[in-house]
Amino acid sequence: MRKIIVKLSERSYPVIMGARLENLGAYLKKRFVSKKIFIITNPGIKRLYFGRLSVGLRKAGFDVSIVTIADGERFKTLRSVNNLYKQAIKIKLDRRSIVIALGGGVIGDVAGFFAATYMRGLPLVQVPTTLLAMVDSSVGGKTGVDLPEGKNLVGSFYQPKLVWIDLSTLKTLPTRQIRNGMSEVIKYGIIKDKAFFSFLEKNVGLIKKLDPGIFEKIVFNCCKIKADVVSKDEREEKGLREMLNFGHTFGHAIEVLGGYQKYSHGEAVSIGMNMASELSAKRGLLSAAGMKQIKNLIQKIGLPITSAKEIKFKKILDMMKRDKKVRDGKIRIVLPIKIGKVIVKEMT
Ligand code: NAD
Ligand code: GLY
Repeated sequence: MRKIIVKLSERSYPVIMGARLENLGAYLKKRFVSKKIFIITNPGIKRLYFGRLSVGLRKAGFDVSIVTIADGERFKTLRSVNNLYKQAIKIKLDRRSIVIALGGGVIGDVAGFFAATYMRGLPLVQVPTTLLAMVDSSVGGKTGVDLPEGKNLVGSFYQPKLVWIDLSTLKTLPTRQIRNGMSEVIKYGIIKDKAFFSFLEKNVGLIKKLDPGIFEKIVFNCCKIKADVVSKDEREEKGLREMLNFGHTFGHAIEVLGGYQKYSHGEAVSIGMNMASELSAKRGLLSAAGMKQIKNLIQKIGLPITSAKEIKFKKILDMMKRDKKVRDGKIRIVLPIKIGKVIVKEMT
């Protein structure tokens, strides 16, 4: 097992990689007093992984309840959170009960928001089962839900007590979802780690073959970068965490315009990263070669670089104005100036 600590003084927590779902119970038993566990997941993930997770939890003496949310970004809503509150009351969860988010980024964000707000906060354990959730959403404490008007418009910063990554869950992940996660992986290379970007370029073949060794390295490196950024700028106030939004301001708008169905989060972010790179090159901030390198890697992984024709640039810009990152009416865009380095620019 490998461990990375997200350093946030008394709220510090470990991200454990190479863990097994079956062993989470024994780990929690040594560290928590409560015996009550509330697992939040969706029906498909429940079918795949509840057995492996619950066997260890029950063996360790936990009283385990499980509740499901329908699968998909469309269900990342306040309505889903409200249903969780109702279930929690029914089974008499108390403030020490442990919430486990078992799933991808949607489950992690909704369950995290539930844990942050129910009884003003319950201990949260993130158990990510998608590549995207392993490398990004389970670490760093952003939780929340969408509104029809925009993505992630309601939420809170709420750090988990633990992130428990069992890489074997990637074996059942559909290829489209692997690609989806690869979008956030490429992001880390562009914003902060040139050597990692080159490593990805060299290993496209192994990535596409779903080589387990490659994913171990990828998840570890991404979590290391994310933990470092979050430790230094937890609430996105110091201009550092903002760079993790590279591709996302365009991407969120594209996701909304596609009705949260046409593009997955990672696909929309890929289009967004390409748009930001083109914009940066147009402004003379990024070389044409740099722009091409970014475009090439995104395409080689099999991710899109342009959105459907009906999603027009003007519509994207209008939608971007509703983004959380807008300050005084100005959109803040993260632009690459070379592979491994980005800056933030304001646009009206
Ligand atoms: P997702 O949670 O919708 O999961 C994708 C699909 O994979 C779903 O159908 C899910 O049921 C399925 N799945 C999950 N694990 C599986 C497994 N092991 N085997 C088979 N199928 C499995 O999507 P996602 O890409 O994981 O997350 C996207 C969400 O994450 C978006 O809502 C985005 O806004 C959010 N996000 C949050 C942060 C953050 O910091 N909180 C960061 C990035 C993205
Ligand atoms: N995914 C962006 C962040 O965690 O800040």
